[in-house]
Amino acid sequence: MTRFLVTGASGLLGLNLALKLAETHNVTGVIHQPELTGTPFEVLVTDLSLPGEAEWVLEHSLPEVIIHTAAMAIVDDCEKDPTRALSVNADLPGRLARMTGEMGARFIHISTDAVFDGKKGGYREEDIPNPLSTYARTKLAGEIAVMAENPESLIARVNFYGWSLRGTRSLAEFFFNNLSAGKAVNGFRDVMFCPLLVNDLVELLIKMNEKGLTGLYHTVSSEKTSKYEFGLALAKKFGFDPGLINSVSVNEAGLVAARSLNLDLVTAKLAEDLGSPTPGIQSGLDTFFNLNQSGYAERLHGFLEAG
Ligand SMILES: NC(=O)c1ccc[n+]([C@@H]2O[C@H](COP(=O)([O-])OP(=O)(O)OC[C@H]3O[C@@H](n4cnc5c(N)ncnc54)[C@H](OP(=O)(O)O)[C@@H]3O)[C@@H](O)[C@H]2O)c1
Repeated sequence: MTRFLVTGASGLLGLNLALKLAETHNVTGVIHQPELTGTPFEVLVTDLSLPGEAEWVLEHSLPEVIIHTAAMAIVDDCEKDPTRALSVNADLPGRLARMTGEMGARFIHISTDAVFDGKKGGYREEDIPNPLSTYARTKLAGEIAVMAENPESLIARVNFYGWSLRGTRSLAEFFFNNLSAGKAVNGFRDVMFCPLLVNDLVELLIKMNEKGLTGLYHTVSSEKTSKYEFGLALAKKFGFDPGLINSVSVNEAGLVAARSLNLDLVTAKLAEDLGSPTPGIQSGLDTFFNLNQSGYAERLHGFLEAG
């Protein structure tokens, strides 16, 4: 049994990760708002960006492994408050990485595919990032801070979807919620990505930790798709009307922050080091469907504190 600390444990990744780890390990989850109840892991509520809070959390939980998923992860919110975005997405992971190194624990940091500008696609770990938004710039600054403070850290650049606490956090839930209600939605035909089911990402992170990997890894699906095609594939899987999805350009959407158009990341380094490719898109959607059938999405919603 290993002692894990998972930050962002109410988030899309953090909750799914903490639940899986808690099946076999001792887990403490850190959340920001007091919104979790009945979880099979210990929960601490704090704003980790405030002075002394990260220190207190580490002293209390004495983790052997920290998986830092907490972030200001809503892209347009970062544009509105770049100072806070820098504090949460860059300063905080740097401080946590340093403290974790001093304790002799292992630090696993979650970064993003959006560090790239999306002009060429086919990105490998050695390609030079060029972030377009405040979110992406602060996440890249977080990667740099983590490696400077603790070079033994593992950094995973991710993109994922899945079932979340409130049922509204991921792109797949957006398609599911609208299409199941018979509502029309827009799908971007010109934004390419490599979406991984969050539960598959959790399995990969656990394997990467067990293998003792360090450094930077592209940790996304081995296949790419457009957001529009992803919506169509989800509709097909669930038996929804694909005609409800309009094929549109991201330029028509009026989004606040700039988006990278081609976030096709190469996962060969991870596949080589784990001995198998990362999951493809259809297998992720199959599991996403099966999880819903088995009541998993409902189980997650049940951890939401009433009120
Ligand atoms: N979702 C994706 O496809 C995607 C793509 C690329 C990278 N990522 C990265 O993956 C990681 C997880 O993303 P996610 O989608 O799971 O995020 P999420 O659902 O927005 O969850 C973020 C979590 O961090 C917590 N948090 C934020 N600021 C905090 C603070 N100052 N102190 C303590 N907790 C704080 C949030 O709590 P509150 O909600 O209470 O504030 C929430 O529990 C992030 O590092 C993100 O940048 C995600």
